[in-house]
Amino acid sequence: MNKLPRMLAFAISFFILAGLAPFPGVEDGAGGLAAQAKKTRVLIVYFSATGNTEKMARAVAEGAGKVEGAETLLKTVAEVTRADVESADGLIIGSPVYYANMAAPVKQFIDDWYAQNLNLFDKVGGAFATGGGLTAGRETTINSLLLAMLNNGMIVAGPLYESWGTFGASAVTDAPDPGVSEYELNDARRLGERVARLALKLKG
Ligand SMILES: Cc1cc2nc3c(=O)[nH]c(=O)nc-3n(C[C@H](O)[C@H](O)[C@H](O)COP(=O)(O)O)c2cc1C
Repeated sequence: MNKLPRMLAFAISFFILAGLAPFPGVEDGAGGLAAQAKKTRVLIVYFSATGNTEKMARAVAEGAGKVEGAETLLKTVAEVTRADVESADGLIIGSPVYYANMAAPVKQFIDDWYAQNLNLFDKVGGAFATGGGLTAGRETTINSLLLAMLNNGMIVAGPLYESWGTFGASAVTDAPDPGVSEYELNDARRLGERVARLALKLKG
């Protein structure tokens, strides 16, 4: 055999073998590398002094957990670590309304991103709040949370309904209807689900 057909035979057998071999780095089956690559991580971080925001946070996590391929992690601002934030594809933050804005521990968590040199670019964000009064700052609190996210290059999920709505989930915890209602918890679930779906799409 002279050189040219030998090289041709080598090239053909190489391409046949390459075609049969699995794509580098991708394994079949659940838990393999391919499955892991599809997974999206949604982190829910909140502060709650009297339990209302915690109820909403649990419902947000429940909603996100419904999305196939989404892994959820629920933490308070005191528990969350830099690594939790860094490895999240979706980040949902919840706060009680304190004087029409987020509570100080939540602001501290956000302010720490700078000192921790965290890169939040292209993570998907969402926000929720609970407030005692009917029109006493839930929307301004949510907007403050979303502004901080936008300011860090995140992509935020807006209204939960297709036509219009607030920019996140919220609950009125005092007047006229004390506690967190099932309707409000359902909005929290919707928020979790929406952020998880968006994060999954963006990763895909
Ligand atoms: C210091 C402080 C300030 C508050 N300011 C507001 C406010 O401006 N508007 C409002 O609707 N509720 C206000 N509240 C009520 C809380 O937002 C409400 O009770 C909330 O659901 C508490 O959440 P948590 O149970 O998760 O701690 C305030 C509560 C505190 C302690």
